[in-house]
Amino acid sequence: MRIRPATETDKDAIWSIFKAVIASGDTYAFDPGMSRQDALAYWFQPGIWTYVAERNGGVVGTYIIRTNQPGLGSHVANAAFMVSSQARGMGVGRQMGEHCLEEARRLGFRAMQFNFVVSTNQAAIRLWESLGFKIVATLPGAFRHSSKGFIDVYIMFRNLTD
Ligand SMILES: CC(C)(COP(=O)(O)OP(=O)(O)OC[C@H]1O[C@@H](n2cnc3c(N)ncnc32)[C@H](O)[C@@H]1OP(=O)(O)O)[C@@H](O)C(=O)NCCC(=O)NCCS
Repeated sequence: MRIRPATETDKDAIWSIFKAVIASGDTYAFDPGMSRQDALAYWFQPGIWTYVAERNGGVVGTYIIRTNQPGLGSHVANAAFMVSSQARGMGVGRQMGEHCLEEARRLGFRAMQFNFVVSTNQAAIRLWESLGFKIVATLPGAFRHSSKGFIDVYIMFRNLTD
């Protein structure tokens, strides 16, 4: 598998993954009916880093790194990940997570923070914990899950200077 910066030509594949992830309404707060244009504008915002994971010539996952806060908070990175439903459970998320930590260090970030990890998202929580992230706060009822209703959200954090 190859992980590389995303280009214009990846947009269809990214949208296909993004659309399916938000449609299920169980992992991200994005409006499940968000348009392609808005989704891609978000994923390719100026000043952020966008990557894809490619296997056998096809895009199977995508992630972004950006600063979590401007100015005096800009030494902390934020990231978001999406793996195609057909490619889950095959190590794509783990490889993108490891790549992301390396990239964030290379870009000079001192820490990484995930602001919105849905508490029922066991795959993500286990993956992030295995990559050294800790749950540092719980936001009670901060997510309106498509089938479970109002549920908690975790903030997860990892130092990158160790
Ligand atoms: C979360 C996500 C990125 C994980 O990607 P993935 O490619 O399926 O994960 P991997 O196959 O690399 O598995 C990595 C670890 O995640 C955990 N994991 C994966 N699938 C799991 C599942 N169904 N249940 C529990 N844990 C699971 C395991 O701890 C696994 O560790 P292992 O490598 O020792 O087996 C992917 O499921 C996804 O895109 N989900 C929808 C969007 C999302 O939730 N993004 C993250 C928001 S915080």
